[in-house]
Parts: sequence; structure tokens; C-alpha cells
Amino acid sequence: MMNLLYDHLAVNQKGHLTIGGADTVDLAGTFGTPLYVMDEAAVRTMCRTYRQAALANFGPDALPLYASKALCFTEMYRIAAEEGMGVDCVSGGELYTARHAGFPAERIYFHGNNKTDRDIVDALDMGVGTFVVDNTDELYALDRLAGERNIRQRILLRITPGIDPHTHKAISTGRVDSKFGSPIATGQALDIVRLALSLPHINLHGFHCHIGSQIFDIDPFVDAARIMVDFIATVRDETGFTASELNLGGGLGVPYTEFDRKVDYAAAIRDMATAIRTICEERKVGMPRIILEPGRSLVAAAGITLYTVGSVKTIPGFRTYVSVDGGMPDNPRYALYQSQYTALIANRPDAPRTERVTLAGRCCESGDLVGEDMPLQQASRGDILAVLTTGAYNYSMASNYNRIPRPAVVLVKDGTPRLAVRRESYEDLVRNDL
Ligand code: LLP
Repeated sequence: MMNLLYDHLAVNQKGHLTIGGADTVDLAGTFGTPLYVMDEAAVRTMCRTYRQAALANFGPDALPLYASKALCFTEMYRIAAEEGMGVDCVSGGELYTARHAGFPAERIYFHGNNKTDRDIVDALDMGVGTFVVDNTDELYALDRLAGERNIRQRILLRITPGIDPHTHKAISTGRVDSKFGSPIATGQALDIVRLALSLPHINLHGFHCHIGSQIFDIDPFVDAARIMVDFIATVRDETGFTASELNLGGGLGVPYTEFDRKVDYAAAIRDMATAIRTICEERKVGMPRIILEPGRSLVAAAGITLYTVGSVKTIPGFRTYVSVDGGMPDNPRYALYQSQYTALIANRPDAPRTERVTLAGRCCESGDLVGEDMPLQQASRGDILAVLTTGAYNYSMASNYNRIPRPAVVLVKDGTPRLAVRRESYEDLVRNDL
């Protein structure tokens, strides 16, 4: 029997793949393909894991945020709200969706390296709790627009610690060269703190950093925390301001294939907390309120994508192409990052995966692949094919390339599916055309 990676995936008596107890072949029949399917319990379990670990290890005012760029639609914000999470929003569109869902504005952290005046005004008017200010231009704009509304806006400053998460090394160039944040190494971080403290409509609470994504060790987070706590100490000594909040961003990884490591998230948070407490004691800095901001690890594993197999073509001496009715418009991650995925035939997942195939999409572009050299069962036209671990950065990065409508999103709860996002229609595609 093949490794299905996650407990919410199983095989039923009909020999079909199930997700959260729902038969994927039935789901494909009812809702059509391509189809994003999420197990709601898996999302909620991850929210609880983060929240409980944060409260237990960082104290009662700890607040995990859901980085909603990973998967954004109205129902996701409702789930995050019910689970007591805050959210990270990064655009006017994410803010709008959060508001549409009735998400409590004070629990929103508003990110982005280039917030427009309109974004800032919208966020101020909806009462967004915290801005994570990226740079000096934004700080002046926020001070002016908050002043016009008689608001003193709570902010964190985004700081660039100069960490490469994949070498665990702090480096003074490279990651300092980023479109995000103010680098410590160049002195710009301290400068923007002084500026923030001088502006009347800015209420600085602390600092934020985000070092990367799909990280499996806590060492780079601890390195970042050390640099940030040192920075908090420097700021205190230079300006008298003591940061009360430190947001360490997102980034813990998830397994996409049987060869990837699994992360024990509760243990990772506990170990991070222990390390950060020690660092704070060494530097004689009071432990700030710690905010974590995961995206991928909250939603990736909960999601799968279902496709219908179309043409199967073998080029002798080269490879077999299995084409599905989706591709880079619903999952651009292989085209962008050569991301690895696990695929299986959902109507007979227990058949041996004897083939190695290239999984191709239906776009008019040779780079439109979901993966290459993927183990798969014998596939033929009409089979339902599942790609696992597609809950993060698939729907949220989907496009209408080749005028292909975006798939529906279905949430499964206690074995029962419900539509969370309707499938786009051809009419939707021309709705804004004049
Ligand atoms: N906080 C900030 C400021 C971020 O920029 C991100 C992700 C997160 C939190 C959440 O990180 P996560 O826990 O999801 O790793 N499109 C890429 C991922 C880009 C991540 C961007 N920022 C992908 O498909 O792999």
C-alpha cells in the first residue's frame, strides 16, 4: 500500500482514495474536476496545535497568525477567526476578504513592501490592529494618513536580520539585499526605529522578521531570534525604547513526498521558546510577546487537487506524458520552483505505482507540468488523479492563463463536502471585458 503522507487520507472499501472520510471519486463526480479539496479538520487541528503550543510556551498573550496568502477565501478567515487565530494580510484584496468574512480587524497584521495610499486608507478605515511597516516611505505615508484620521496607529517594523535559512548562517550581504524590510547590517533598521519614535501618529510596539519558507529546522529561527533580540537590546541602549512584541514570521515546512521530513510543530515551538527565553536572559531583555505567522504548515497538508486524466502519450526512449485537465493555472509551483509533489490514481490508489511519468497540464506551453519523473499507477483516460499537499500556494497563486477558469474549492467536514469557492464559469471570464 502506498504512503499517503497524512492521516486524513485513506482508502475505502471501494478501493478509492478518501479525504476526511469523503470518497474522492464521488467528489470529482459531484463537483467536477479540476477540484481543490480541503479537509477542514486537518486545518483546524493545525490551528489548535500552533495556538496551544504558543499559549503554553510563550504565555497567555501569544498570538499565532495565519498567513492568509497561503490560501485565501472567505471561509478560511471564518475558520481562522473561530480558532482564535490572528491573520497576516498582505494586500487590499486580502483585507477585503477578511472584512467580508467578518474577521476581527484588531487581530489583523497588515504586511507588504509597497502598500499604496489606498491600501493604507482602507486598512485604517477598517481598524486594522497592526501595520507591519516595511520602509521609510511607507512610515511617512502612514503617519500622514493616520494623522488625517486622528489615529495613532499600532505598528511593528519589518527588519532584515540577514539570515539564509538554508545555510543557517547569518550573512551581511545576500539576504540583506531584499525588497523587504530595513537591514540591521546597514544601519537602516536603527534609523527607521528613530524615525518611527519621532512621528506623532505612529505607535511602535516592536519588530518583525521573516526568514524564508519550507524550513525544517528551528536553528535558523533561533539564529534570527538571537539577531532580533540583540537588535532590541541595541535599540533600548540607543533610544530608550523597549520593544514589547517580536514577530518571527512563518516558514516551518511540510512534507510533499515520502522523502521529506515531518515536522513536530508543537515540539518545534517549544524548543524555539526555550531558546528565545535563554537568549533574552543572556541579553537582559524582557521576553517580548512572541508572534508566529505560519501559512503553509497550516493548510498545505489539508489540501489535495483532483484531476481527470486525459491523453496518455509515451514517446519511446523518452518518457510518458500523463495529461490532466488542470496544470499550471491551478498549480504553478513546479513551473516556478520545481516543487515536488506526490500523485496517485484516486480510483485505485492501492495498485502498484509501476510507472514514472511526466504529469502535464492542458496549457499551450511546454513548461506546463505538475511534475516530472513521478511514480504513478498505470493511468488512462477518465481516471481520477489526485495530487497531494496542494492546500498552500496553489489556489492562492492560480491564474486564468489560456482562459482556463479557476477550479472550485470544497471543504470536507465529518465526511460531508461543502462548496467554499464556486468554480469559475466562462461567463466569469468575460465579466470585466468591455
Ligand atoms: N510571513 C511573511 C511575512 C511571509 O512573507 C510569509 C510567506 C509567511 C509569513 C508565511 O510563510 P509560510 O509559513 O507559508 O512558509 N509562493 C511560495 C511561498 C512564498 C512565501 C511568501 N511568504 C511557494 O509556493 O512556495
